[in-house]
Amino acid sequence: MAEDFNVKLEEAKYYTPEASFKEHSWIGDYNRAYREFLADPDGFWGSVAGELEWYQPWDRVKEWEFPYAKWFVNAKLNITHNCLDRHVHNQRRNKVAIMWRGETEEEERIFTYRQLFQAVCRFANGLKRLGVGKGDRVCIYMPVVPEQIIAMLACARIGAIHSVVFGGFGVSALNQRITGIEAKVVVTADVTYRRGKAIPLKNIVEEAVVNAPSVERIVILRRDADKPVELHPEMEVDYYDLMKGVERECPAEAMDAEDPLFILYTSGTTGSPKGIVHACGGYMVGTYYTTKHVFDIKDNDIYWCTADPGWITGHSYGVYGPLLNGATCLIAEATPDYPDPGTYWNLIEEYGVTVFYTAPTAIRMFMRVGEEWPNRYNLSSLRILGSVGEPLNPEAFEWFYRIIGEDRCPIVDTWWQTETGMHMVTTMIGEPMRPGFAGKPIPGVVADVVDMAGNPVAPGTGGLLVIREPWPSMMRTIWNDDDRYRKYWHTVPGCYTAADLAVKGEDGYIMVIGRSDDLIVVAGHNIGTAEVESALVSHDAVAEAAVIGKPDALKGNSIKAFVILKNGREPGEKLRNDLVYHVRMTLGPIAIPSEIEFVESLPKTRSGKIMRRVLKAQELGMDPGDISTLEE
Ligand code: WTA
Repeated sequence: MAEDFNVKLEEAKYYTPEASFKEHSWIGDYNRAYREFLADPDGFWGSVAGELEWYQPWDRVKEWEFPYAKWFVNAKLNITHNCLDRHVHNQRRNKVAIMWRGETEEEERIFTYRQLFQAVCRFANGLKRLGVGKGDRVCIYMPVVPEQIIAMLACARIGAIHSVVFGGFGVSALNQRITGIEAKVVVTADVTYRRGKAIPLKNIVEEAVVNAPSVERIVILRRDADKPVELHPEMEVDYYDLMKGVERECPAEAMDAEDPLFILYTSGTTGSPKGIVHACGGYMVGTYYTTKHVFDIKDNDIYWCTADPGWITGHSYGVYGPLLNGATCLIAEATPDYPDPGTYWNLIEEYGVTVFYTAPTAIRMFMRVGEEWPNRYNLSSLRILGSVGEPLNPEAFEWFYRIIGEDRCPIVDTWWQTETGMHMVTTMIGEPMRPGFAGKPIPGVVADVVDMAGNPVAPGTGGLLVIREPWPSMMRTIWNDDDRYRKYWHTVPGCYTAADLAVKGEDGYIMVIGRSDDLIVVAGHNIGTAEVESALVSHDAVAEAAVIGKPDALKGNSIKAFVILKNGREPGEKLRNDLVYHVRMTLGPIAIPSEIEFVESLPKTRSGKIMRRVLKAQELGMDPGDISTLEE
């Protein structure tokens, strides 16, 4: 079973940020904040919600009928009122909300809060013109441009449910998502730019709506002014034409706190995609609170989350959370290594980014190309670094801390999921950081590492990462598949199970090992693919590694590793033996890969997770199943 593996925890090593971080942080002392939350959870969340504006207050903070929660019962609100109107009506009216940077330096657009507010109102009125209203579903399939965010907010303004589909998905994935939600309108663009190439989107949409009878209209942003694509007048309308002559003002729809705000499909590495449903009130409170406290956002911060709004990270921490806090956000249509691996560092220097949130897969790529790239730029504006998406292995932590944070910036390794909507486990600003460990549950969250019966496991013993109490931004259901929602709450009695394996240290810090579906059972021992990968990556020749289990007559499974070497390192028998020895010394003999293959790249989801399932299928000559999430 999942719980019967042990991790040899090394002696705890901490990095403690300068005392001023804690002194000036919103959260103050973590332990005190956590105790205050535990003493009165509803009071805690009620007081966070009270920092925002509501059209009608709640009768009760929450109603919990396992496994269904209602938050801010009977309250009325509109999230865009809090993202926009609230700032426009106070001293942030002329503050910059969004600085957008296209792939080339010439392409830049800046929106103050007032300008963003007006753009959202006008597009919301455009959508109304197409007959879109409260409860209708709108699919947004766009590149990373301001109009993508404007379209999301415009839907929220009028109570339509948006479902953003990452602009890199292909026809069948898009069709599956459009038909899944029965979208009335699709908002798209003629092209998306990636690595200097224009990739057409409109053709993909046209194919994807062939078997999607719900779709009435397609709104198209035409970016390529030299060659404006032709539109089919009965179905297609230009993004800017749609707004000609509309009213400037668009009153925000008063939404019930439990009305759906958006549906976001998550596919992860296994199974068919699930349409995760988030509700207006709780999602607003959860993302507002975590953006403020986990990133410790201040009014003069320049905040950059590198995630595409097509993912939950882009929803919660690229759009809603920062705008709810009135932050100035950089939005970049950038690829970390195009035109060269200095792109991100260049943007940080140029815009003076202070809070930088990215993913381990990018950090490991940067490690591989070497520190000479960041060293060419002035990164002294940085104050806080964040990581999300996968375990941040200790080597990547230390590199990020030393080379990017210049031994000065706290790193928040944030564990959470599309389903949780907001950060759940991390190390709050000012607390000592332990490399390899995400940290502790944030104030507001009751998380633990348990066995299948729900009992906490001993330090150093693996278990399942669970959440014991409801939280405001938890998903409310899976669109059209509530049974699948209930399953999350029925693996471990009384708990939400995240399907992640984790280990707790004696200090209560949580190390996330990886998905429980990425376990390999070798000779009766459960081995997490991520553990072996982390061991391989800790060898100085290795840039990245992926590990799969192969059926073995003797041991049940054997381990095969795929390894990408750092620039300048030569594959060969000697290195192969070194790596085996290294894993043996790190994890012990049961975790030794019986095969190591040196490769140039690994199959990944578009959000950067290694698709071990694809490697395994290739290896065993099987059908890889749904690969709609595979990056080119
Ligand atoms: C993994 C992304 C280790 C985990 C926000 C989770 C992490 C899945 C971390 C959710 C982290 C996310 N450390 N693992 N800091 N953050 N994960 O839905 O396996 O795209 O269950 O949400 O990513 O992925 P999702």
